[in-house]
Amino acid sequence: MNSYHQKAKILLILALWGCQDPGEVVFREKCISCHRENNDLVPPAPIFTDYRIKADYVEKVLREGIEGTAMKSFNELSEREIKAVSRYIEKLTKREVKVDSSLISRGRYLFENICSSCHGIKGDGEGVGRNIPPPPDFSKFNPLPQTTIRVLNEGIKGTTMYSFREILTEDDKRAVAEYILLFFRE
Ligand code: HEC
Ligand code: HEC
Repeated sequence: MNSYHQKAKILLILALWGCQDPGEVVFREKCISCHRENNDLVPPAPIFTDYRIKADYVEKVLREGIEGTAMKSFNELSEREIKAVSRYIEKLTKREVKVDSSLISRGRYLFENICSSCHGIKGDGEGVGRNIPPPPDFSKFNPLPQTTIRVLNEGIKGTTMYSFREILTEDDKRAVAEYILLFFRE
């Protein structure tokens, strides 16, 4: 086989391999109609790449849905499709994140005093109040710092997550955003 044929063959294999992730197929057909930029749902559907996300969390959300939101349970998907799309989202959102350790003690102080009443002291969403929809489990659905800062400024419409724009300084928003990174479990 000459080198042209060899190249063509490699490209063909890559192309097939590229489109064949069955999780990506489910994602395109069933998820991005809502999970896209500027969707005007209340509360909005999050953009997955703003977070680090574990597959088992996606599976749970797909089986149970989220009360009080457009996120319904997806009983129409097979077990295999649920696993495939969940793994796909984990892979899509996986990344190295460096934590700025100089901000952690301030961030922890703020989180424990202001956020934990709803988010739980461990960031697992098990606070004291009853919130519908409930806060996510940050060990599996973990916002990147710029995401947390945006949410702190804007709040989330249709939920109890209100805006801290005027309540926290810019430095404090950064500190608490860094602290939340520590909840994530690889
Ligand atoms: C009809 C619109 C809609 C479709 C279709 C949809 N979602 Fe959602 N999804 C939402 C909304 C709205 C939220 C935000 C819920 C909230 O704020 O608590 C959400 C939240 C989520 C969350 C995050 C949970 C959290 O804690 O905030 C995950 C994970 C998720 N969806 C997965 C999926 C997957 C996977 C699919 C495709 C199989 C999908 N969704 C299809 C509307 C949708
Ligand atoms: C009164 C209860 C309450 C307090 C206090 C609160 N939150 Fe929230 N927060 C929520 C709820 C409920 C959600 C989930 C909203 C949804 O489902 O879309 C949320 C979502 C979030 C999200 C986005 C995750 C996602 O679902 O996209 C971040 C980031 C966040 N909160 C950070 C904080 C920080 C940091 C503090 C403290 C400075 C704080 N919250 C205080 C209730 C609260």
